[in-house]
Parts: sequence; C-alpha cells; structure tokens
Amino acid sequence: MAAIITQINEVASLLKDEAVVGIPTETVYGLAGNIYSAKAVKQIFSIKQRPFYNPLIVHIPSINSLNKIATEIPEKAFQLAEAFWPGPLTLVLKKLPSVPDIVTGGKDTVAIRVPNHPLALSLLAGLDFPLAAPSANPFGTISPTTAAHVASYFKGNDLKVLDGGLCEKGVESTIIGFKKEQPVIYRLGAITIEEIEEILGNVEVNRSHSGSAPEAPGMLLSHYAPKASALLTDDLEKTVSLHSGKKIGILVFSKVSLANEQRYDCEILSVKADLEEASFKFYAALHRLDKQELDLIIMEKFPDMGLGKTINDRMQRASTRRT
Ligand code: TXA
Ligand code: MG
Repeated sequence: MAAIITQINEVASLLKDEAVVGIPTETVYGLAGNIYSAKAVKQIFSIKQRPFYNPLIVHIPSINSLNKIATEIPEKAFQLAEAFWPGPLTLVLKKLPSVPDIVTGGKDTVAIRVPNHPLALSLLAGLDFPLAAPSANPFGTISPTTAAHVASYFKGNDLKVLDGGLCEKGVESTIIGFKKEQPVIYRLGAITIEEIEEILGNVEVNRSHSGSAPEAPGMLLSHYAPKASALLTDDLEKTVSLHSGKKIGILVFSKVSLANEQRYDCEILSVKADLEEASFKFYAALHRLDKQELDLIIMEKFPDMGLGKTINDRMQRASTRRT
C-alpha cells in the first residue's frame, strides 16, 4: 500500500537503498530514483507503466552539477539555467556517457532540471547521485499536485510519498532543447514563452519533438487524460446544449454563465482571472471532477497567452480520445 510520510531522512535512506519514492516539486509530484541504479530506474518505468522509449528527467541540486550529466552545453542553455534555476525549466542537452541509456530512452540527449521546492532541494543536496523523476502518475493520466493524488494512484504499490504540500506551480516544467545551439521549446510549461523570449529573443516552438512523439504519434497526443470523456470548446453554451442528456462537469478560467448552471459540477479556476492561480489549481480541479463519475467534462479554452497557452495545451491533450 502507498503511504504518505514526512521525514526527509527516511526518504534519503530509501533512495540510497535503490527504492523509488514519490517526492514533491514546485510543478507536480515526481516518482524519484537514483539515476545510476538500474533497479530503481526500471522500477520507475514499471510502476508508472511507462514505455521504455519515453525518457526521464534528471533532477540535480544546482547548476554546478550540470557538467556531471551533460556536455557541449550551448551558451544559451547557461543563460536560461542562470535565469530560471532552481525552477520549472528543463533543458535537453547532449548526455555524458556515464548517464545510463535506460534513463534517456536510448537517446544521446538528457533532460535536466533543478526543482524549486525546499524539500526536493534539501534531499538532492544530501545525496551523491541525481534523481530521475517523471511525474508521479500512471502513464497518460492527470498529473498529481498533492501527495494524496500520488498515494491514491499507487494504492496497490508499496510506495512512500514525501508530503510537500500543494505544488506551487501546478503544471509541469517547460522543456527546451537545442538545434545547432538554437533553442526550441518541446513542451509548454510553467515558464511562459514570453519569459523565455525576454532572455533569448524569438524562440521556436516544436511540440511534436518531446519524448515519444516521433516513435508513437497519437499516443503522446492523448495525455493528462481523465477517466471521463473530455471536450475542449470555445463555445461553452453550445457544447453544453449539444450534450444535454449527460452528467456534465465544467471547467472554466474565470466565469461561467449558463442557463441552469446549478445542474452542473463547475470548477472556476480563478475568479479574479489570474493565469498563475488558474494553473496552480488546474490539475486538482480535473482530479475533483474526475471523481464525480461524470459522463463528460467540458473545458473552455483559456486566453491564448502566457500560462493560458500551457493550459490550452494540457486541455487539448486531456481531451484527445485514447485509441
Ligand atoms: O515538471 C516536471 O518536469 C515534472 C517534475 C516531476 O520534475 N516531471 C515531468 O516528467 O513532467 P515527465 O516524465 O512526466 O515528462 C518529461 C517529458 C516527457 O515528455 C519526456 O518524453 C521528455 O520530458 N523528455 C525527457 N528526456 C527527453 C529528451 N532527451 N529529449 C526530448 N524529450 C525528453
Ligand atoms: Mg508526465
């Protein structure tokens, strides 16, 4: 059975013993293990039911550890690391041979970040190995932003989860790789395109590049998905009326105005229309709706700017039907 714990020392000794532990970060909870332990890394893939070709993110305590993991680091990568670490930025860089292939899904690149959560940072600082950690949810499901989400997903596993409270950002890190020294955004995340461009100027966005996309298109598209069917719309009223016989849950940015509104389970993410607040609450709201045994979750598109782009991306993937 999964259990929530609070002692960081206990987590450190479990990790030294090659166990996998749920840990908090500022974005979402991760399923962490020693990157140099084949046993731990295999266990991460197996608990998560994640295909081996989909690589893991390596978490390090500070920028000083970067040269133990990556090589041929572009100047622009250092600029980003200096601006955003510790924080929700993942850099995809050329890997050193010492980084096990199983961590990187056989790729010659490795994804790296310094998480900005006090417990994760003090844990990493006390270990002499980095932590591989994907989000702590079964492959393709809604990401976890509380220790309870993780424990509930992995009820059947003997897994300890370190309680670090609610994740402050609530959506995953922004992933940036490099094409001949030029930055390319692979995954939209908690750092906005606008914030990246403030440092580097115009940046290309190529969302088909991350992880399993080239090997298994379609599969990665359907991600972050609830059990109920989900639809993304920019005309809430019309979409709701098309499904009038169904048990419907609704998720919107800042306000909802529908006839018979009380008939629906509504999640309004930020009454004051604040995108940061809305991202912080997004996954938890989706988890709550998905517990209501609904026929359908209807999500209304966010403003197409800043974190709104990130949430639109997650809602799009959550609403793509699995095949
Ligand atoms: O915020 C986050 O990034 C969280 C916390 C726990 O750090 N982690 C996270 O991990 O979201 P995960 O495994 O759920 O997503 C990592 C993504 C995957 O889509 C994976 O395919 C991509 O990163 N990735 C990892 N290594 C890569 C590489 N070498 N090249 C391209 N994409 C890579
Ligand atoms: Mg994930």
